This record gives sequence, C-alpha cells and structure tokens, in this order.
Amino acid sequence: MLREAIDWLFTPSLPLARKSGHLGEFVAIAARRRRNASAWAGHEARSKEAVERAGLAADPDGTALILGAGHANDVPLEALSDRFRAVILVDLAFSRATRRLARRLGNVVCRTHDVTECLDALSEIRQPTAWLDDPSVTFVASVNLISQLATVSTRHRDDAEAERIARALAEAHLRWLSRFACPACLIADQEIEIVDRDGSVTATLDPNKGARLPEADEHWIWDIAPRGEIDRRYAVRHKVIAVDRVNR
Ligand SMILES: C[S@@+](CC[C@H](N)C(=O)[O-])C[C@H]1O[C@@H](n2cnc3c(N)ncnc32)[C@H](O)[C@@H]1O
Repeated sequence: MLREAIDWLFTPSLPLARKSGHLGEFVAIAARRRRNASAWAGHEARSKEAVERAGLAADPDGTALILGAGHANDVPLEALSDRFRAVILVDLAFSRATRRLARRLGNVVCRTHDVTECLDALSEIRQPTAWLDDPSVTFVASVNLISQLATVSTRHRDDAEAERIARALAEAHLRWLSRFACPACLIADQEIEIVDRDGSVTATLDPNKGARLPEADEHWIWDIAPRGEIDRRYAVRHKVIAVDRVNR
C-alpha cells in the first residue's frame, strides 16, 4: 500500500488521469503485476514478440508510435529503439522505470496523451486524429490498451451506458488505427474467462462490449488473475490476440 501511495504521488501523468482515477488504476496494475509476475511473464513475452514481428514490416527510417506503453512491460523497447530512428511512447501516465529506460536509450520519448481524445467529455465520443498527419510515423502498435479505454471512466455509470461507451471507444480506436498509412498492429484481449477450481470455464465475457476486432494472426492466454488474486474459488484469464496489421 505504501509503495502504491508513493507511486501515485510521484508518477508523472496528465492532470486528467490523476483526477479521474486512471492514475490509481495505473498504479494498481503495477501492483497486480508484482503479485503475479510469473503468471504474466508468458503474456508479456508473447506481446513483445508480436510487436517486434509486426514492426519488421515497417520502414525503420521513421518513428514507431507505441500506444498504452506506460509501464512498457509488454513492449520490446530496446528492440524498437535499435530498429527505428525514433520511438514515441504514448500513455496517460508513465512509470519512473519507463522514463528512465527511455532516457537511457536516447531516441525514445514519453508523451502523456489521451488516445480517445475525449475522456473528459464522454457524452460525445470523438474520432481520434492524433499523429495521422505526421509523415515521420512509420509504425503504430496498440499494446493491451483497447479494452482499458473505458474501464475507469465508466465505473459509476449503469451497465447499458457503460457498455455503449466502451464499444464506441473501442470502435473509434480501431478506426483510428486503420487510418494510418503505415503498418499498425493491435495486441488486445478478446475474451475474459472465469475459471472454476476444476478448470472448467463458468462464464465468458466480452471486454470490448461488442466491438469486432480484426482477424487474429496469433492468440494466447493471459493468466491475469490466478485463483486467490480476486477470488478464492475463481481465476480470471484473458484470451489475447495479435493482429500484425489492422490496416491491410
Ligand atoms: C492493461 S495496461 C497495458 C499494459 C501496458 N501496455 C504496459 O505498458 O505494460 C493499459 C494501459 O493503457 C493506458 N490507458 C488507458 N486508457 C488510456 C487512454 N485513454 N489514453 C492513453 N493510455 C491509456 C493505461 O494507463 C495503461 O498503461
């Protein structure tokens, strides 16, 4: 708890993220990861491999734009820094470890930015446009971000309204990715499974609330909450997909 309080105080973030609860969630994700490091390791390795593979199709003489990279645990940052002329990491907040690594690598910058461009006014979901007109961007990766766009901001809304917003934000995010002229890849959770003690799946949920993700090039299981993390009886796992190029 003390570690989380210190992280909350000293993590650089958008003022919007601090006020809205996003920073609290950002700090909580890091704590969850510390508790479940070995269960998360395979997922992080597969995410890194998928981003690296997708990046091979892109012009290295440009900038890689990596969305949702605040902790950079699932981003092959050294490999991207080696391959591309420059790397821009985008998130509402950045851990001190990510900022330190970015400084050490030299050609990596951290940009605090709301990728929905409308978290402060969700009554009107906007179509994001950032970086679309930047010709230096030659690769885009959205990394384990899409299902998170609505989680914090819809906490106090009724279910139907929360689902409508979540779906609209996810669809706008996919449209944004598909409008880049360069290769844009997507790593995303497609399904949430609630797993009983005997290994049987008792419920399946859609984290993107009806938004249709493109066809996957690869998929794997992320044991996000092994038994005991949020419930004594049930574990939660996510089916994650990698789409090498959303805008084929
Ligand atoms: C589940 S975490 C993904 C893990 C992350 N890729 C990493 O760096 O290890 C989702 C990330 O999306 C970020 N995020 C959520 N909503 C966002 C938004 N509207 N704009 C930018 N980043 C956002 C969160 O701050 C968090 O870092």
